[in-house]
Amino acid sequence: MQASSSAAAPLTDPFGRTVSYLRVSVTDRCDLRCVYCMAEDMTFLPKKDILTLEEIDRLCGAFIALGTDKIRLTGGEPLVRKGVMTLVQTLGARIGAGGLRELTVTTNGTQLTKMAGELYAAGVRRINVSMDTLDPATFAAVTRWGKLEQTMDGIFAAKAAGLAVKINAVALKGVNEDEFDRMVAWCGEHGFDLCLIETMPMGEIGEDRTDQYLPLSLVRSRLRQSWTLEESDYRTGGPARYVTVKETGRRIGFITPMTHNFCESCNRVRLTCTGTLYMCLGQDDAAEFRSLLRDPSVDEAGLAQAIRDAIARKPKGHDFVIDRRRNRPAVARHMSLTGG
Ligand code: 5AD
Ligand code: SF4
Repeated sequence: MQASSSAAAPLTDPFGRTVSYLRVSVTDRCDLRCVYCMAEDMTFLPKKDILTLEEIDRLCGAFIALGTDKIRLTGGEPLVRKGVMTLVQTLGARIGAGGLRELTVTTNGTQLTKMAGELYAAGVRRINVSMDTLDPATFAAVTRWGKLEQTMDGIFAAKAAGLAVKINAVALKGVNEDEFDRMVAWCGEHGFDLCLIETMPMGEIGEDRTDQYLPLSLVRSRLRQSWTLEESDYRTGGPARYVTVKETGRRIGFITPMTHNFCESCNRVRLTCTGTLYMCLGQDDAAEFRSLLRDPSVDEAGLAQAIRDAIARKPKGHDFVIDRRRNRPAVARHMSLTGG
């Protein structure tokens, strides 16, 4: 008998990648309507289809027992889900040896003024806040329903609570493309990292995506005219490639799904709020967990086996292309379902 026989083998996919990072969309709803993410009249899922917070916690526990050490809560907007803080607290209680190394949140920041302190108290140390622009009018136009001031106040509340903040900005042609110098300076001034994201063709949004697409290679070469960008080998296991801005000491990450294939080092899977596990952001294959969670005959061992079976189907990579001819999304589901 091996001494380690009681410890579960880590989740490894057919391509030898260890899966240790679970992203969990806790709701498909959001209080904003960003133009690249949703149509304004987006219809949301009925409540019965959505996992309860207890079901989410149980499934997260099953992943953690199989070696998942990082969980990110996303949405939609995770902080608008009623009672979400109880989930943050139960997951936070799983931080520690043999459990989670890190619990993080991706948010649009609108609820942070009231929730930042509770997030920190529950064990969250880092958050990503989506803010594509520093201009109030542009912010209102991009988010349709948002107020820049509310998100900004949230960001500063997070900083004051002790949370490390990374700003996520989607690069949009003709919208925020002249603002990145200012954003780099602003992030430098306040001690935030910045992550620039290319638009990904996910879900019908009622607009033409080819009009929004701005390659980050272009953004990067423009930034080089004002800033010294030092190549960095900093990696989070995710798709971002980082540089350090010499003048500010802060990092800039570039997420370029359209121009760069980042699949080799993928360590993550994504759970939707309905209990569907997507093994790849850019593929449709998925595993269904809601029915298992609601089936009294499925115990923890059954759940663990279903997770292993799903990981065994993780595909090698994605194939994102904005289909210019038909202008159809490469993946039909919205980002707000899988949480990016
Ligand atoms: N393409 C790129 N980024 C997107 N996001 C939402 N939808 C898209 C899309 N279609 C971003 C949000 C958030 C992050 C989780 O994903 O702005 O910052
Ligand atoms: Fe909401 Fe985020 Fe989508 Fe904007 S990008 S509508 S903040 S879920």
